[in-house]
Amino acid sequence: MSDANYDFGLIGLGTMGHALLLNMLDNGNTVVGYNRTPSKAAEIEALSEGRLKVYSDLEAFVKSIRKPRAIMLLVTAGKAVDDVIAGMLPYLEPDDFIIDGGNSHFRDTDRRIGYMTEKGFGFMGMGVSGGEDGARFGPSMMPGGTPAQYDRVGKVFESVAAKVDGVPCVALMGNGSAGHYVKMVHNGIEYGIMQAIAEVYDVLRRGAGKDMPYAANLFHTWNQGELASFLIEITATVLKKEDELADGWLVDKISDKARAKGTGKWTSQDAMDLGIPVPAIDAAVSARELSESKPLRQQAEAIYGSAGTLGVSDQDLHDALLATMLLSYAMGLTQIRAASAEYGYESNLETVATVWRAGCIIRSVQLEPIRAAFAKNPDLASLLLDDAYAAKLKGCVDGLRNVVASAQKAGIPVPVLSASLAYFDGIRSGRLPANVIQAQRDYFGAHTYERLDQEGSFHSKWA
Ligand code: 6PG
Repeated sequence: MSDANYDFGLIGLGTMGHALLLNMLDNGNTVVGYNRTPSKAAEIEALSEGRLKVYSDLEAFVKSIRKPRAIMLLVTAGKAVDDVIAGMLPYLEPDDFIIDGGNSHFRDTDRRIGYMTEKGFGFMGMGVSGGEDGARFGPSMMPGGTPAQYDRVGKVFESVAAKVDGVPCVALMGNGSAGHYVKMVHNGIEYGIMQAIAEVYDVLRRGAGKDMPYAANLFHTWNQGELASFLIEITATVLKKEDELADGWLVDKISDKARAKGTGKWTSQDAMDLGIPVPAIDAAVSARELSESKPLRQQAEAIYGSAGTLGVSDQDLHDALLATMLLSYAMGLTQIRAASAEYGYESNLETVATVWRAGCIIRSVQLEPIRAAFAKNPDLASLLLDDAYAAKLKGCVDGLRNVVASAQKAGIPVPVLSASLAYFDGIRSGRLPANVIQAQRDYFGAHTYERLDQEGSFHSKWA
């Protein structure tokens, strides 16, 4: 007789895993957890007051799940995922199904799909966004795979995901590693918007000399309108947090070196491989890297001096953030479209926007109009070509221009704001100076060029 009592297993009970397991339990799923440290497993069981079963014996955990089994991993991306899979293999049986819910690189997911399929198991990569609160009360989930695979576990995920008018923020993002790809780009957009917010904060405080309560209030007010979003909301809260260890504001005491686990960089790397420009994301990655070189920055400041002051209106700052947010979404979604064509994902951008509307870190009131734009025209090459999007962008891009101009004049770095503006100006230039590049390439390398007025490939003797 089998003693398998559970329908779903979760491995990796860190903050996110623990929260997700409780969420699954609250929503009527029969779930079981695994944590390799016995004391931690016992602690989580105790905290749940008998509601949760958590094993620290992997074989017992696997065998407690009904066949064919569905087991989700929420462990640190990289080697840990391979280690857990290797540890589980001896206990798995044909048709058992593993879902990797961490921030794995999509190429690792491709490799694991191949490896596990060969062994007769199912494997799915799924992005999960929303942090601890999201995991506990409603994350956004981005699985990739076949519809049949989704059907095996979709009900569990739909029961826990965030909802918008009853529609769960989980759906199939496309074939193969599409789920992890979409989550990677989500994080790239997250990097862009976070850096843009930090730049506007810097312009406000260092440039315009506003105090912290002023900045916090402004973000709070902005969160009531077109900028309403998770990242603006938490920024308002972060800015008004008082330091508990000393006088002053906590954010003033935090070291100005931004860390990164890598998903933003992966987004930029793959965008470059695809030949798709995502300059807001590239600039955000570089900005974090520059922040790491604090001693170098301090030495350079001693030589060159630091930024001056400036005057900008709150409305321009609002508009700069809105335009950058709109441009960041547009870049990321264009990248997903290109990746879908290149990697055979068959991703649907309306579905991507649908699951980003709530639960995830980049959720905002702008995602519903984005969903609607792709619903109206699934082949839309860029959000910038949608009428409603264009009208909104036209209304705020002047503010972005004013902020970038003032910040650059004062010497305050605004890498994401300025990269976003340059992207906008580049896209709306029917004619760019790439003709000069082509002429130079032909001059020194005989790389040839095409003409505007004749077919064919040309080479000139330039000198
Ligand atoms: C999310 C977050 C989450 C995590 C990032 C942080 O969607 O819930 O994006 O995945 O917080 O990985 O990434 P960095 O450490 O690179 O900032």
